[in-house]
Amino acid sequence: MKINTLTFETIDSTNLEALKEARLGAAEGLCIVAKEQTAGRGRQGRVWVSDRDAGLYFTILLRPQLDPKYLPLITLMAGVAVCDTLREFGLSPDIKWVNDLLIDERKVCGILAETTETPLGLAVALGIGINIRRSNFPPELAETVTSIEDASRSGSSVPSPEQLTQVLVNYLKHFYDLLNAPGGPETIRNEWTKRSTFECGKSVRVALDGETFTGVTDGIEENGALRVALADGSVKIVQAGDVQRLRTE
Ligand code: BTN
Repeated sequence: MKINTLTFETIDSTNLEALKEARLGAAEGLCIVAKEQTAGRGRQGRVWVSDRDAGLYFTILLRPQLDPKYLPLITLMAGVAVCDTLREFGLSPDIKWVNDLLIDERKVCGILAETTETPLGLAVALGIGINIRRSNFPPELAETVTSIEDASRSGSSVPSPEQLTQVLVNYLKHFYDLLNAPGGPETIRNEWTKRSTFECGKSVRVALDGETFTGVTDGIEENGALRVALADGSVKIVQAGDVQRLRTE
């Protein structure tokens, strides 16, 4: 995959731009990076706070040739790539199923993969937002989010968006190649499992389509969906939805 990076001072959303470019025929490997987003998109229609220079706002365009049933593994692949990127900067993140990177149980990164049909076939805008500096998070978020700056030991330097992008792109290329290689889906599931405490034995509350239930995580399915064992012995397969750790203390 050849990487071609377009950098914007301000943009509505790097994902929206990548989707637009995809429909115009842009090649796989196009990366859109912005210093700020005026309409940063989160999952489930939420807003992604994207203050100027406070985070990395990044989208890579992919044109996967995967069996469509494995498309959800692209999000897991991205989680693994971000995890290894943050480790290079001295941090120890956990991956919360399916798309959040946590440090000390607070969210430092979110991933949003959006698909579109294009004349060249299906395209995926794989958007990654990493909080680098403390930002004006709304009060309702302040308790649940963190930044690289918050999580770094005092004295250690905080990477710039450019430094983060360089390392991230290398890991994305590496793990995307692995996903596309023979046995790739299994490799990515294994890599994800090694980096996530959410994979098994975690008490969670799941909010899905207006329904909420609690259970204990019980591994992931072939396509990356989360298995949650309920108290009555049944297992729910969660394809999407919000998963929160239940605090038992
Ligand atoms: C989430 O809700 O956790 C996903 C957040 C994804 C945010 C990133 S920032 C870069 C890219 N552009 C967007 O508009 N959203 C994603």
